[in-house]
Formats: sequence, structure tokens, C-alpha cells
Amino acid sequence: MNPDTIYCGDSVKILGKWEPGSVHLVFADPPFNIGYVYDRYADDVPDAEYVAWSRAWMEACCRVLRPDGSFYIAIGDEFAADIRVLGRALGLHLRNWIIWHYAFGQNARTKFARSHTHIFYFTKDAKRFTFNDHLLRFPSARHTEYQDLRADRKGRLPDDVWDEFPRVCGTFRERAGFHGCQMPEALLMRIVMASSNPGDIVLDPFVGSGTTAVAAARLGRRYVGIDVSSEYCRHVRARLASLPEHREPQAAGDAWPPLHMDMLLQLYRETKVSLSNLLPNKVAMQVVAASLSQRAGRAYSAGDVARMLESVASTPLLPKLPNDRPFVARNHETNEGKRYARRIQRVRRRRTSHRGGEDPALLLPAV
Ligand SMILES: C[S@@+](CC[C@H](N)C(=O)[O-])C[C@H]1O[C@@H](n2cnc3c(N)ncnc32)[C@H](O)[C@@H]1O
Repeated sequence: MNPDTIYCGDSVKILGKWEPGSVHLVFADPPFNIGYVYDRYADDVPDAEYVAWSRAWMEACCRVLRPDGSFYIAIGDEFAADIRVLGRALGLHLRNWIIWHYAFGQNARTKFARSHTHIFYFTKDAKRFTFNDHLLRFPSARHTEYQDLRADRKGRLPDDVWDEFPRVCGTFRERAGFHGCQMPEALLMRIVMASSNPGDIVLDPFVGSGTTAVAAARLGRRYVGIDVSSEYCRHVRARLASLPEHREPQAAGDAWPPLHMDMLLQLYRETKVSLSNLLPNKVAMQVVAASLSQRAGRAYSAGDVARMLESVASTPLLPKLPNDRPFVARNHETNEGKRYARRIQRVRRRRTSHRGGEDPALLLPAV
């Protein structure tokens, strides 16, 4: 196995040829067997076949994992229980059953909309593993709400429900555009920071759009990715070649290394507090600065952080948090408001005519 390589082919076959115990961290996000359309994989096989295949690739990953290695698996509701049972059968230790709760889940009409994915965090050994808690801390409600001076200045660890990573939607700058299941880079950064050290080898046996490899490379780890699709592999190599670290500075915020800027913006998202409430809160700002300094490996003061956040405050770089702007009611009497209301009515009429008749409850008052 050559580090910093994207391999094209079947991961079970490729992993079978590698040295045992050569990888520090595995992150696997296999097809979920839900009929999703991929370039070179039919995601709709009989359940028993899918479970047998899951066992085969999990076994292959366990073989190449070091005795002190960590193994994360993302999976949907349909086979989460099977993966947990397979993990036990393979002698893995479950450290967390993480729920990634995301915004922008697909809408549903006949049941509750699904808005989560399971992420199993296993280790090979119950006691020996890497867990860099100092790189994961962020200000808790004790800092942000109560400004409690007794709260730990280093911040607190995330819970096992992760809701600070929105899905990568089609309109996001981060979207690579060639793969429908692209995971957020910030989520993979959390996993890579937690369970590996610089120079370690991070394997993704279903590399897809390349997110794990990108996170590993940006954090100074060595990546190895595998995918059956040569098309995806080609795109992933191009994505790796165009990492922000390789580009010229272009936008507001570029005064900092792009990685540190991304870390700060993610930390801001983790605080869940609007900028206008965060900036004057000295207790929380100190935690943000301390946590950023740990993650970036460079000392940043609360003042540095405040100046940088202020400089991007009115740009699209600053993540939008729920309810972080004061509510401004739309005035339906103004021209702009009237145009908006007419457009909504047109869209709703089109939808109801598809269903064979107007639904009066959907119509706005006449404008
Ligand atoms: C859910 S996607 C992974 C998405 C990825 N986590 C990301 O962030 O882009 C699953 C990937 O597994 C690949 N795949 C399916 N069967 C495979 C196999 N036997 N060996 C290697 N890759 C496979 C598919 O081509 C697909 O790109």
C-alpha cells in the first residue's frame, strides 16, 4: 500500500493484498443498499447478500487496522443494527453510537422526514487507542449562556448527537459536484482530529467524492482511498490537487491559512450562538481562541478571533445559524412583497393542479 494514493477497484480485493496492521484509522461510508444511483455499483441487493458483503469488507478493514486503531462506519437505519452486530462478531469495541443529525433531510409526505445517519465509532482494543480530546473542545452553554467563570476554560467535548454539520447541498461552495453522497469536510475533520495524529494513515474504503482523503491531507495525515468507480477516482485526485492550501488567496479572510479559517468558521458553528451575542461574551471568546489554537497548532488570542470574525461578518463565509438574524416581517403591501406573494401563488397552483384540484388551504389571500 502506498500512502497518499487513490486506488480504483473493489476494496475487499485491494485490502486483501495489504500488510496487516498498517492503518491507524478507517472511516467507511458504504452504499446503504437503498437503491441509490452510483456510477459503478448497484445499490439494491437482497438483504442477506448485503449483510454478507458488509461482513467481508469490515473484516478486510479490521485486518489492515493496527491493534490500537479506530474504525468509524456511517450507515442508514436499514442496516445499522446489522453493522452493530457484525462489529461485535469481529471483536470490535463500540465506543460511541453517534447520530449525525443534519438539516436539509428529504421531505416526506407519509412519515416523519429522515434527518440522521448513524456513525459507529469502534476501536480494535478497548483501552489502547488515540483520542485527541483537546482538538474537539468548544464553548458549551455554560460559557455562551451563563458566562460561568467556573466552567472549564478549555471548553467541552461534543455529545454523541452531532448537529453542527449540515449536509453538503447542491448550492454549497464545498460541493464537488460529481457525487451525490458527499459528506461534509468538517465532520470528517472532527473524526480525523479525534482518532489520528499527524503522519498517521487514514483509510477510506469507499472514498466516493474524496472527503476523507481531503480532511486527512489538510490535517497533515496520509490518506488512502478506494473506490470501484474510475470516474470518481479521477475526480477525487483532481479535488485533492486543488485543495485551498494550493490556491492563491482570493477572498476576505484569506489573511489566515485557509485551514485555520475553516477551523474558526466550524468552531463558530459549534457555539450555536449568533455573532452579535458571541463577540461581547469574553468567557466564550476565550474558549473559542483556546480551542482554535489547539486545533491549528498556533496561538490565537480572543482579539485575533474577534477581528477575523468581524471581517467576515457581512460575507457569505460566515455560516448562517438558525435564528441568528432578527426576524423582519415581509411587507406584502410593497411591490417586492406583492411580487413574492404572486410567485408563491403561481407555484402552489401548479402543484395543486397536478393533484387534480385547488386546495383552498394552500392559497394566500388575494394581493
Ligand atoms: C456513500 S458513497 C461514499 C461517499 C463518501 N463518504 C463521500 O463523502 O463522498 C459509497 C461509495 O462506495 C463506492 N463503492 C461501492 N462498492 C464498492 C466496492 N466494492 N469497493 C470500493 N468502492 C465501492 C461507490 O462507488 C460510492 O462512491
